[in-house]
Amino acid sequence: MCMKGIICFLLSLAPFPAFTNDSITIHMQNHGAEVPASMYGIFFEEINHAGDGGLYAELVQNRSFEELNMPEGYHAEGPWLYPAQTRYHLDGKVRSDRRYRWTSEQIPGWELESPNAVMSLTTDAPVSVNAPTQLHLTLNSKETVRLINRGYWGMAVKAGEKYFLRTIIKTSRNYKGTIKAKIVSHTNNILAETTLYCSNKGQWNDIRYELIPSFTDSKSHLILEFAEDVGQIWLDYVSLFPDNTFNHRPNGLRRDVAQALADLRPAFFRWPGGCVVEGITLNNRFEWKKTLGDPARRPGEYSTWGYRCSYGMGWHEILQYCEDIGAKAMYVCNVGLACQFRMGESCQEDSVRHYLDDCIDAIEYAIGNPAQNKWARLRAEAGHPDPFPLGYVEIGNENWGPVYDRRFDYFYEELKKRYPQLTFIYNEMPDREGPSLIKKTDMIDPHWYETPQFFYGNSHMFDSWERGKYTIYVGEYACNRNVGGGKMVAALSEAAFISGMERNSDLVRMTSYAPLLENRHDRRWATNLIWLDADQVVGRSSYYVQKMFAENRPTYNVKTTHTATDSLHHVIAGYDRQAKELIVKVVNGSDLPYITTIAVEGAGRLGTTATSITLKAGNLNDENSFDNPRRIYPQTESISLEWFRNTKQKLCCLTFPKYSFTVIRIKAEY
Ligand code: AHR
Repeated sequence: MCMKGIICFLLSLAPFPAFTNDSITIHMQNHGAEVPASMYGIFFEEINHAGDGGLYAELVQNRSFEELNMPEGYHAEGPWLYPAQTRYHLDGKVRSDRRYRWTSEQIPGWELESPNAVMSLTTDAPVSVNAPTQLHLTLNSKETVRLINRGYWGMAVKAGEKYFLRTIIKTSRNYKGTIKAKIVSHTNNILAETTLYCSNKGQWNDIRYELIPSFTDSKSHLILEFAEDVGQIWLDYVSLFPDNTFNHRPNGLRRDVAQALADLRPAFFRWPGGCVVEGITLNNRFEWKKTLGDPARRPGEYSTWGYRCSYGMGWHEILQYCEDIGAKAMYVCNVGLACQFRMGESCQEDSVRHYLDDCIDAIEYAIGNPAQNKWARLRAEAGHPDPFPLGYVEIGNENWGPVYDRRFDYFYEELKKRYPQLTFIYNEMPDREGPSLIKKTDMIDPHWYETPQFFYGNSHMFDSWERGKYTIYVGEYACNRNVGGGKMVAALSEAAFISGMERNSDLVRMTSYAPLLENRHDRRWATNLIWLDADQVVGRSSYYVQKMFAENRPTYNVKTTHTATDSLHHVIAGYDRQAKELIVKVVNGSDLPYITTIAVEGAGRLGTTATSITLKAGNLNDENSFDNPRRIYPQTESISLEWFRNTKQKLCCLTFPKYSFTVIRIKAEY
């Protein structure tokens, strides 16, 4: 038995188990790359109701009644929406087989409870031409008529908290009846109620009330009740908004969801996507300018992911959130190309400048000088004269081919000249040829949606990637193949892959998992990081892997040699200069405990206690759930380490449970 074996054998008499052939050697004097503060960030896109019915705090669905508006040139047949027949720019063909989800509801989000009243939509005499649609109600009898909105699969309200009701309403001159607003529980108890007073002189009333529910309910609904008269009512806007948003921002973000994201300590926040940036055709690309100003005047857009996005959570709100959580914003612009997995339309070459200008305006809105730029002035008028923390601009999303490459060069040259302080990113899709075809970029953004085998097998991928031309932002990755909505095996394989990215942090400077959020009632994409409904937020096992990496980002890597007998064992180490701690991260994806020696070379004093944070599961198919949201949850404990010294190393023996990811933090001095 070798020296190491004897040590471990002796240790097994004490707190340690049996003999091992595995060994990890940490070479403390051999520094690897600094791990930049930018390493772990967030990718946000309006998909799976991630924004409306997710991060955005609005409780009313279809508050502006615009949801049946479709992009120009589109038409609906039954449950399908057919896009404008544009040509795919790479082959000139029209993809006539494409169709997207459409709704069968008469007025999405709204139900009318009355046999004698009629509701319809109109755009006559709009309050705002940007969001012109109104609900028109004809009350044919004096009976009580109820107009109900159940929000995004129920409205969660809390006893004693304030909710702001805002409605833009008009009644016919003859209407003398009452109008009440009520928050009603799922068991039909009235939780809060107010009477709305509005003049009936044929004009719009923009009225606001506060409602304070007497009980908490996770599935309440809003009722507008009309009684005691016949007449006509027009509603342009009905909003119910919690006061208790994240950081108490008006028109802000849902506190619990925003906090779950903040807990990931994101260095950056990418917005608005994702495919929504590009649109199915250019007609329904995400348009940031329409997300500014009074929420009642924002038109929204039928989104790439099969439902209408209200634009309520817009560029200003996102920038504000970035500032609130200390993240840098990343804006993704459209280069005049629609999604290449969909219709792949391209704008005419003489319109490309329009897209570039649109991107410049977005940048100016974020960081421009209000004295010199109209978009910066709008930001100041919205209450934020100082620049927001914009750090990055991605030029296009998942575009490829010669048209994209040409446009990238054009955008990059102009943008870099104007904003040398910003980092610009090129999409690397779908192979690795792209970057060699453009003149210059700061970063590239490759994406991986793959199997557990892929992520385990590629944790060393970046070790051999060429250095020196640009750095890498892995902007979208997730183990989403063969894992359903998510499983521990996915999380562990991602941990192995992230280990490879962190070890290569001289090259891979930024990463973000995608997609981020899923409302459990509208899964448009199979595997997402965080699940939510009206009142719960559930981090999947992958969420905790992300959190553990971000919370335990070392200052720099430390070289580690690892004799692994199992390809499911992955190890990295780094040093946290401020905490003076050695941080060791170990993935054990196998079905047996992983028993190994850890030898540290070149250290002065090493702590005899350490903090161990372990994420583990009994089964690779395990996952968190709404009923058991912390089934897989990091357990933090203090462990004792017994160090044995041989000539130049200190050795200890550790066991990592089966199906686990562990971070160990050991006080260490040089
Ligand atoms: O993350 C979901 C989608 O995956 C994004 O919208 C797109 O960029 C990628 O194809």
